[in-house]
Amino acid sequence: MLRAVVLACVVNIVLAGKAPTIDLNDGRKMPVVALGTGRGTAGSAPIDEVKDAVFWAIEAGYRHIDTAAVYGDEEQVGQGIAEAISKGLVKREELFVTTKLWNDRHARDQVVPSLRESLTRLGLDYVDLFLIHFPISMKSDGSPDNIDYLETWEGMEEAKELRLARSIGVSNFNATQIDRLVANKNAFRPAVNQIEVNPTLTQEPLVSHCQNLGIAVMAYSPFGFLVTRKHADAPPPRVDDPTLVRIANKYGKNTAQIVLRYLVDRGLVPIPKSANKDRIAQNIDLFDFQLTKEEVAEISKFNKNVRVIHPKGWESYPNYPF
Ligand SMILES: NC(=O)c1ccc[n+]([C@@H]2O[C@H](COP(=O)([O-])OP(=O)(O)OC[C@H]3O[C@@H](n4cnc5c(N)ncnc54)[C@H](OP(=O)(O)O)[C@@H]3O)[C@@H](O)[C@H]2O)c1
Repeated sequence: MLRAVVLACVVNIVLAGKAPTIDLNDGRKMPVVALGTGRGTAGSAPIDEVKDAVFWAIEAGYRHIDTAAVYGDEEQVGQGIAEAISKGLVKREELFVTTKLWNDRHARDQVVPSLRESLTRLGLDYVDLFLIHFPISMKSDGSPDNIDYLETWEGMEEAKELRLARSIGVSNFNATQIDRLVANKNAFRPAVNQIEVNPTLTQEPLVSHCQNLGIAVMAYSPFGFLVTRKHADAPPPRVDDPTLVRIANKYGKNTAQIVLRYLVDRGLVPIPKSANKDRIAQNIDLFDFQLTKEEVAEISKFNKNVRVIHPKGWESYPNYPF
C-alpha cells in the first residue's frame, strides 16, 4: 500500500502514449521510457534503420526519443517523427525529444548555434530536453580542451531562455560535478542527469544524490551486459539468467522487460535502443505489472560497478567523470 502511494508520487497517472510521465524540476513532464537511437555500443548498426525505428516506436506508444549530435542520426530521427506526424499518429506537442551537445562545442557562444544545427537536422523548432553530453571538453580535433562546464551551462540557459530547448540538463556528470553546478546559483538547475544504469552498474549513490536534488535520472545502456557487447569477460546477468527468468515467468514477461521495469521501479527513465519492430514494442510493454521491493533488491545484487560505456583515452582530460 505504502509502496503504491510512493510510486504514485513519483510517476503521474496521466499516460503519455503508453508510458507514464515524471515531473521535472522546471514544471515540465517527461515520459518514463525513451527510445535510444545511439548505435555505437552494440556493433556498427546502419543509420538507415533509425527512421523506421523512430516511426515504429511512436506507433507502439513511445512519446520520448533520445538522440545526440554525435550520433549522426538526428536527420533520420526527424524523418521518423515527420512521418508519424504526417500520418496523424501524433502531434509534435505530444512528443518529448532529447538531444545533446557534443564535447567540441562547449564554449558559451557555441552552445546555441550547435543546438540550432541539431534543430535543422531534426526538422524541429525546439527540443524538449537538451543535455551537455559529457562534462569534458575537446578541441575539434578531439584533443583535450579545458572549458569549464559552468561556462557551457550559461549557453544551455540561453537555449532555454530562447525556448529552443524547453528543459536543459547534463549527462555523465558525477556527484561532485552535479554539486558544483547546483552550488553555482544559476538561473536554472539541471532537470536531468543521463547516466549509465543497469544491473551490473546500479549507481545507487549517484541516483539518490540526483533524485534528492530534484534532478531526474535517465538510464542509458539499460540492458547492461544482458545483450551482446564487445566485452568478452562481461559480468552476469545474461538474458537466460535464472533469477531474471524466474521473475519474468512470474509476470509473463521476458527478461529484457524485467530489467527495464527494474529501472522504472527505481524512479529512473530507461532508454532502450532497438531497431527491431517487435523488440521496440516489447520494451514499452511495461506498465501492467510492477516488481516487489524484494525483486528490485535482488536485481540490484548483480551490481559489479562495471560500465558498458568506458571511453578509453579520455581519462587524462580535465573533468573526466568516471
Ligand atoms: N548519454 C550518453 O553518454 C549515452 C551513452 C550510451 C547510450 N546512450 C543512449 O542510450 C541508448 C541505449 O543504450 P545502448 O544502445 O548502449 O544499449 P541498450 O539499449 O542497453 O542495448 C541495445 C542493444 O539491445 C538489443 N535489444 C533491444 N531490446 C531488446 C530486447 N527486448 N531483447 C533483447 N535484446 C534487445 C538491441 O538490439 P536490436 O536493435 O537488434 O533490438 C541492441 O543490440 C542509446 O541508444 C542512446 O540513445 C547515451
